[in-house]
Amino acid sequence: MKKILRFFLFFTFVYKKILEFVMVTKIDGLKVNFSSFLYGKNPKKQPPVPIYAVVTYCPTTTFSETFPNFYVTYWMFYPFNEGKDACFLGKVPAPLIFSKCLGHYRKLGNHIGDWEHISLLFSNHIYPDKLFLSVHDAGAFYIYNRNTNVFKFESKMSRKGVAQVPAFPEFVRLQGGHPVIFAAEGSHGLWSTPGEHEFIRVPKILDKTGYGTPWKTWASIKFYHIGLSELPSWMNFKGKWGNPKTKCVLLKKFGLCEYTEGPRGLLRENKDFYC
Ligand SMILES: *[C@@H]1O[C@H](CO)[C@@H](O)[C@H](O)[C@H]1NC(C)=O
Repeated sequence: MKKILRFFLFFTFVYKKILEFVMVTKIDGLKVNFSSFLYGKNPKKQPPVPIYAVVTYCPTTTFSETFPNFYVTYWMFYPFNEGKDACFLGKVPAPLIFSKCLGHYRKLGNHIGDWEHISLLFSNHIYPDKLFLSVHDAGAFYIYNRNTNVFKFESKMSRKGVAQVPAFPEFVRLQGGHPVIFAAEGSHGLWSTPGEHEFIRVPKILDKTGYGTPWKTWASIKFYHIGLSELPSWMNFKGKWGNPKTKCVLLKKFGLCEYTEGPRGLLRENKDFYC
């Protein structure tokens, strides 16, 4: 009996190891090659860098109505994301004292492969009702005002029960009918204003945004209609994009790692909007 149990445990162990098989990108070799995928593509060059729009129709939609009831999520892919400088005293994350780090800086949160997104909710009108802006593990809802033609902050949410949810800008403005969104340097968190946005207090980690290279995302949208389109196989990948976490400080769970993992793919259980 004991033997059988031992064999069973061994088998389970091997099976689990096979299931946990992950592909790891060796970053160091690619970093010295400026044409490697780590450096991404210039969104100004042709052909335009695509974004992926996943459209979910609500069951209440009847196509005889003037405009359907649906939400759409626009996904942007970032091949490599350089981390942020964080202040440490020895091995412990430390606050800045009068804006100075009394210890040393370490770059945390480098990661391969990142998906950031914004979503729009439409309820039977040709204009959207709400916008959701995703920033790392948090995000904000904005309500569209037809008269002023801006989205106004409504509420914020955090996905992993993150203790420190950032302060979000009050408005998302439009230019030529398109929301103007800034992707932060390195992390690619999405914000609606240029500037510095604090999203972790200790160690202090900032997202810096500004007027960089414009990405006219509407020039190349790949649409996928859930339940109607055939989805590419990579979209059904249920694991985490990117390498596993390595060189972590404190606990892996808090995500303070020199190299951190990528997010899950596009078809997630937690949605920004529900019908
Ligand atoms: C650099 O990356 C490109 C694109 O992946 C590849 O074709 C090329 O062989 C690489 N060069 C070197 C020196 O590794």
